[in-house]
Amino acid sequence: MASSDTAARAGELRQQIEHHNVRYHQLDDPEISDAEYDALVRELRAIEEAHPEFVTADSPTQTVGAAPDTSTFAPVRHRQPMMSLDNAFSFEELQAWGKRMERHISGAVDFVCELKIDGVAMSVTYENGLYTRAATRGDGVVGEDVTANVATIAAVPERLALKGSRLPSVLEVRGEVYMPLSAFEHLNQKRGEAGLRLFANPRNSAAGSLRQKDPKITASRELSFFAYQVGEIEGGSQLHHHSEALDLLRDAGLPVNPEIRAVGSLEDVDGFCRNWLEHRHDLNYEIDGVVVKVDDLAQRAELGTTSKAPRWAIAYKFPPEEATTVLKDIMVSIGRTGKATPFAMLEPVRVSGSTVQLATLHNEDQVRVKDVRPGDTVTVRKAGDVIPEVVGPVLSKRPVGTEPWNFPSSCPICGSPLVRLEGESDTFCTNAECPGQRDQRIVHFASRGAMDIDGLGERTVMLLTTNGLVADVGDIYSLGYADVIALEGFADISVRNLLDAIERSKQRPLANLLVGLGIRHVGGRGAEVLASAFGHLDDIVKASEDSLAAAEGVGPVIAASVRQFFSLERNRAVVAKLRTAGVNFQGPAPSQLEQTLAGAAIVVTGTLRGYSRAEAVEAIKARGGTSPASVSKKTAYLVAGDDAGGAKLTRAADLGVPVLDEEGFRGLLATGIPTGSGAP
Ligand code: IVH
Repeated sequence: MASSDTAARAGELRQQIEHHNVRYHQLDDPEISDAEYDALVRELRAIEEAHPEFVTADSPTQTVGAAPDTSTFAPVRHRQPMMSLDNAFSFEELQAWGKRMERHISGAVDFVCELKIDGVAMSVTYENGLYTRAATRGDGVVGEDVTANVATIAAVPERLALKGSRLPSVLEVRGEVYMPLSAFEHLNQKRGEAGLRLFANPRNSAAGSLRQKDPKITASRELSFFAYQVGEIEGGSQLHHHSEALDLLRDAGLPVNPEIRAVGSLEDVDGFCRNWLEHRHDLNYEIDGVVVKVDDLAQRAELGTTSKAPRWAIAYKFPPEEATTVLKDIMVSIGRTGKATPFAMLEPVRVSGSTVQLATLHNEDQVRVKDVRPGDTVTVRKAGDVIPEVVGPVLSKRPVGTEPWNFPSSCPICGSPLVRLEGESDTFCTNAECPGQRDQRIVHFASRGAMDIDGLGERTVMLLTTNGLVADVGDIYSLGYADVIALEGFADISVRNLLDAIERSKQRPLANLLVGLGIRHVGGRGAEVLASAFGHLDDIVKASEDSLAAAEGVGPVIAASVRQFFSLERNRAVVAKLRTAGVNFQGPAPSQLEQTLAGAAIVVTGTLRGYSRAEAVEAIKARGGTSPASVSKKTAYLVAGDDAGGAKLTRAADLGVPVLDEEGFRGLLATGIPTGSGAP
């Protein structure tokens, strides 16, 4: 690029970044995702590094946040500037930063790893132990006075719990005000019901809740706070390490995040980040990365700061889970219960490592409240394992002439009227013969949590039903080689694989079969309870509503639903077909095993030689234990086979959860006490 073009591009980037700073910091209404914003800053920084002559003092690479909104809140000049953090966008960049620290510092470096809470940075000041002021970061030098609003946050104490010489005369605490996920969901649900605009994410709703003229509104928003840094401090004990500062904050009664760890090596920093990348959604608050800080305050002084950020800390940012793209159309899909779900057809976009083209819009009210329209640029988000969802439109990019979208009045598949019951948010196709519903019932039957028939996905099911080969789940077992080979896209090997998978499914446990039948309200847990209480499908089919409800763990809702399901002739006909095909109807024999693991949560990871994963889980359950997917404080043991994932082991080590190898596991099963334990 010619030098004049580069200068022009830098100017353009500066303007764009400033625009987005205002949208994010002042209006709490960003137009682009954090990752897209970070990409703009990175591009500008790269230009400035290559051409230092283009750097301006007011470039967003040199400044923090956005100017405070002093028309609503009084300005507060920070006693020490509130700085930003430099980012690392990969484990490699983070390690490179760590190595730089180790090179620049004489002596060993200890690090403190903290979760990067996705909220609003706050400075909270205590004088002689009493809460006196809270201010936002603003542009880092001057922030907004939100003392009255922050005073309503229960997690921020009015008085510090420090006494005598430990009590500083001035203690300025830096931390993050955030909205717990449960509070965010609750708030948006209430806003949706009231027809108000929904908040896009917990960070925006925390920022919006703080920026209220009336503290009563802030008080109603269930905000919380984590303290992560000592700012100005006068008096009290001398601090030499950040970890000591965190202890002081904790002793003072301030909430310090319980996941913070002091570590002695870059390897441990890496382990911490990898673990939280995997477990970021296990928390009741959003985190967008990990902040790594040098622990020793003398070393920090040696490293110093740039105009914008300290050199002794870095934010490792998780890969993005949000992106913007164009919504091409809104369609409605029909589920196995007839539920009509609107979904967005998107211009393909990468989010969290996968390409997203479809995203759910949940129901009619959600589309109305979000007011997304075909042609809009929308924000798409993926959280954890859930299906991607459309967060909302970017209004500033809405093309002229778009119309609000209306929910269709008839089923897009069978044309029957769509019905929405009074007081319910969902709309249904009421035609039980609807081919859309039928196909989804079959897909569900074949799914992993049910009969686990590999290869029987939506596309194949549609081929089978439209060719008249399968009309319900019972027909799957009558399929022969000649039927399948005639279908488009099938060859000898794929036909054999499918038929083998169908054959194997006949041996699935009764609980899986019950899940597969798709009885309303009967999920995995309900199915297991029914299977072990009755022991045979025929006994469940025959059972009266009262005897179903009398079984331990089966409530009246499940009982009524099961009864209703098997009272229908067409469902009994399916059961007859399954019987003829030789599908297993028998439940587990009532457990003869001693309940040596009653109530114990045992997580299994890696490959065990003597057990498949399902068998290991089965063995735990048969002895009264449970086997959750991830390690938590409640985990009694982690069983780690060969090639066990590092993240689970790290987390177990962090939480002090004992790790067993296969031999230890066998001992545990036999006696309830591990033998020969030890990590593999
Ligand atoms: S330390 C000079 N620690 O991230 C160091 N910041 O992108 C100041 N944040 O403005 C920040 N969790 O709002 C620090 N454990 C943590 C944090 C954290 C979240 C936020 C904070 C800061 C922003 C920088």
